Amino acid sequence: AKRSLLVGFGGFLPDRVVSNAELAERLETSDEWIKTRTGITRRHLVGPNDTAASMGAEAARRALDYAGLTADDIDAVFVATATPDQAFPATAVRVQAALGMKQGFGFDITAACSGFIFALSTADAFIRSGQIRNALVIGSEVYSRIMDWEDRTTCVLFGDGAGAVVLSASDEPGDRGILSTHLHSDGTAGDLLYVDGAVGQPDKSGHLKMSGRDVFRHAVGKLSSSVDEALEAEGLSYADVDWLVPHQANIRIIEGVAKKLNLPAERVVVTVDRHANTSAASVPLALDEAVRDGRIQKGDLVLMEALGGGLTWGSALVRL
Ligand code: ACO
Repeated sequence: AKRSLLVGFGGFLPDRVVSNAELAERLETSDEWIKTRTGITRRHLVGPNDTAASMGAEAARRALDYAGLTADDIDAVFVATATPDQAFPATAVRVQAALGMKQGFGFDITAACSGFIFALSTADAFIRSGQIRNALVIGSEVYSRIMDWEDRTTCVLFGDGAGAVVLSASDEPGDRGILSTHLHSDGTAGDLLYVDGAVGQPDKSGHLKMSGRDVFRHAVGKLSSSVDEALEAEGLSYADVDWLVPHQANIRIIEGVAKKLNLPAERVVVTVDRHANTSAASVPLALDEAVRDGRIQKGDLVLMEALGGGLTWGSALVRL
């Protein structure tokens, strides 16, 4: 049977770094509040020339480079984003153009902060079915463009950036690759976290609104059960997990899940302190960082999880 191997990793963060102290100059907040409630100390924010497509394309170039492949080798581009540059064409198609691709196909996936897990699962299904061999899976987000910069309860939490992986089909026996993915959504909790202002609704704000405390309440339980589900599906246990690469929304949520897994902090990849919440970009950015600095090694069992607006949530279990 075919499996999807993760063969390339890339990340892109815009140049501009904004500290908590800088936000505190124009908002009633403090470095202390943001750090203790979320673990965030700073975030990267886009400049006028950065777009979801440009950042996604740059992360993709770096991932292709890592894999030793070129855009000519790619059959499909999946972009997870809740902040596309345009209603259409899809960001994925803009990324294809930026990479000089005329072959293959691309489309976007909208699952808010869980988007990367949903996109990874989609790409994996295309590869397993034999429809494609090589895929780019990208999370790219410009949440700074959907923030209400007067609302201290949301604008301090998010950052911009993009991350990418290259998936490649393998027919070889062995236990490497994406072992399983698990997706969930529950629209009855849709009003806990949303952005209004669809195309043709100029009266809407277009800003992100979140009942933070309620989302938090859902997070650890749903993420833990999705992690359990992934391990059970493979007959593995917590002790088998080498690395947890969680969505980076809040250090307290990350620590809550790690505690349930009985995983020490050294086995959890954390970027939320420096990146804040980059939504669908957070998991591939964290993965890229930990692979490139040598923490995550070939053969390691990596567990990814995320929860976001929808509500959507899920996990992916991968043997690198
Ligand atoms: N600075 C100072 N004070 C603040 C700030 C701020 N930036 N923001 C809120 N406060 C105040 C509140 O007004 C409140 O004051 P009150 O008690 O007088 O009413 C107090 O701080 C506590 O607020 P809470 O919301 O209860 O704080 P909490 O500990 O829950 O932390 C947070 C808030 C960080 C938002 C947390 O609830 C959280 O991380 N939630 C989950 C977010 C998440 O995971 N989202 C999913 C992914 S995002 C996506 O899919 C797009």
